[in-house]
Amino acid sequence: MIEEAVRILRQTSSLLVITGAGVSQESGIPTFRGKNGLWQNYRAEDLATPWAFERDPETVWRWYDWRRGIIKNAQPNRGHLAIKELEELYENFYLITQNVDGLHGRTGVKNMIEIHGNLWRVRCTRENITFMLLDVPLKEIPPRCKCGALLRPDVVWFGESIPNELMEKAFSLLETYETLIVAGTSGVVYPVASFPTIMKSRGASVIEINVERTPISDVATVSIMGKTGDVLPEIVERLKKMV
Ligand code: APR
Repeated sequence: MIEEAVRILRQTSSLLVITGAGVSQESGIPTFRGKNGLWQNYRAEDLATPWAFERDPETVWRWYDWRRGIIKNAQPNRGHLAIKELEELYENFYLITQNVDGLHGRTGVKNMIEIHGNLWRVRCTRENITFMLLDVPLKEIPPRCKCGALLRPDVVWFGESIPNELMEKAFSLLETYETLIVAGTSGVVYPVASFPTIMKSRGASVIEINVERTPISDVATVSIMGKTGDVLPEIVERLKKMV
């Protein structure tokens, strides 16, 4: 399976990588839907919504404060680093991550869309301005803007739309790139869940890397079962040997 992926990647001139929480799992960050995905018996779908925030901003922020604490002490893993190396191997490279933890950014990857936002960035619910808030733990929960209004994480919650400019950029990549690696995502949260099918239907190759089968496995050209921290570095190593 890895050989087949490497064969495809060797022939491609443009590479899109899409990642999900599985890529950060080996950095010690719990995924949303696997084991340890629950926080105090809440599912992400119970907390990451505008309605949950309206009803109980304190609980929503306590969840983010907990996740921010884990992420602050985490480091990018071999999977994140291999993706950065892929960027160096391809002239046309882009990463779309659903992760809001900022770990890809810490590898220095340049061509990246954080399509669900970033949990270190906050947004004033009154003025809509955004800025970085790096305190861990937070000094006050829920945190407030200087203007007095509540701050919220600058992430895309269930029931909210991805900003237009990000969707437009994503679609321009889906419509033109030759090959997709989709790694560590359960493939159940839309719209990103539809991206592999969109690319496959216009003839692009889709390489999936996951520790288990997902709905994406049915559309993938190649489905590699394994951890991204093992499989991605192996792919990079083989690609480099062939250069
Ligand atoms: N290597 C590869 N895959 C892994 C690994 C690993 N080390 N560990 C876990 N996985 C896989 C799991 O098998 C699962 O398919 O990663 C996937 C993680 O799935 P989710 O927890 O559903 O995460 P994700 O797909 O990123 O969720 C999408 O849902 O809650 C929202 O906005 C949130 O961006 C998130 C979105």
